[in-house]
Amino acid sequence: MKKQLIVGVAVAALTVVTLTSCSGTARGGSGASSGAAAIPKGSTIGVALPAKTSQNWVLAKAAFEKSLAAAGFKADVQYAAASNTVTDQQSQISGMVTKGDKAIIIAAQDGSQLGTQVKQAKAAGIPVIAWDRNLTGTANVDYYVAFNNFKVGELQGQALLDGMKAKKSSGPYNVELFAGSPDDANAPVFFNGAMSILQPKIDDGTLKVVSGQTKFTQVSTQGWLAQNAQTRMSNLLQASYSGSTALDGVLSPNDTLGRAIIQAVKSAGKPVPIVTGQDSETASIPLIMDGTQYSTIYKNTDVEAQAAVDLVTTLSKGQTPKTVLDKKNNYNGVKTVPAVELTPILITKENAVKEYANNPTLEALAKAGQ
Ligand code: BGC
Repeated sequence: MKKQLIVGVAVAALTVVTLTSCSGTARGGSGASSGAAAIPKGSTIGVALPAKTSQNWVLAKAAFEKSLAAAGFKADVQYAAASNTVTDQQSQISGMVTKGDKAIIIAAQDGSQLGTQVKQAKAAGIPVIAWDRNLTGTANVDYYVAFNNFKVGELQGQALLDGMKAKKSSGPYNVELFAGSPDDANAPVFFNGAMSILQPKIDDGTLKVVSGQTKFTQVSTQGWLAQNAQTRMSNLLQASYSGSTALDGVLSPNDTLGRAIIQAVKSAGKPVPIVTGQDSETASIPLIMDGTQYSTIYKNTDVEAQAAVDLVTTLSKGQTPKTVLDKKNNYNGVKTVPAVELTPILITKENAVKEYANNPTLEALAKAGQ
């Protein structure tokens, strides 16, 4: 036992020496060993993206290719396949390590299943940056770049209340809750953010969750798949909203699921309730403008990709990136991952045109629906 420990320390010390001496430019010392990584201009940066379950992931490839090229790097962007997603992503990341990509940016399909691969990256001195979704249960993630996920949830919870109040000035309001996929570290954070706003209103009787399903494990949506949310909503309507029981609002964690929920309500012949969302998907903007979906969240994918590329650039200069330690958002079960946190924006039809002014596609959709 003791001997193993000593060997371990010696290996760690060696690794630090090797990393420092090959960069030659190491300064500062953030404590993250990758601060001293060698990322020469022109080198290849790996970007491992999950399956394309929502539009943000579709947009991410071009966003990374553009910002990496502008920063003087080559991009190696790969999506996990729609099936065998986890194993596919595992082998893609191993491949990036073997090929010698100089930094690896990961948006995990399942943040708890990449421990072996990031350990491999760490052993090879390759910095690992979790992007949008954190990696859990591992010390071998150096940085995390994302929007403030707890804040996303708070905005969704508040929007649900505001939307219902605008329609009917006082409660009690009948609501149902949905959360994202349990294998995505973001999903419980979004949900906890929303519940920080909604739970006090459930406790004081303003909100009534008619199904009684309020726990993350009861309301989560495996794989973030629209079909799963639509089926659950149909079942809830059948079980708890027969006859004249009104459904006033639904907490939906993103736009894809929001549209599925709306579809289920329409199929059941009920009036569409206040439904929240996230991602500013092009298919949801017209629904927001015509009042079918109440709100979404704007998380500009270009800005988020740029923030990760800026971090790589900082590391390539041997400098220490500016990060925050935010336990509530970024604790991964082993450590609070140093993070670059961006600010999400709540969108309703009132502010859509203004807030989308930096995005011609979304701005045009918002204007068209005015
Ligand atoms: C992202 C959301 C997205 C969801 C489903 C989350 O990790 O932060 O923007 O809607 O995954 O793909």
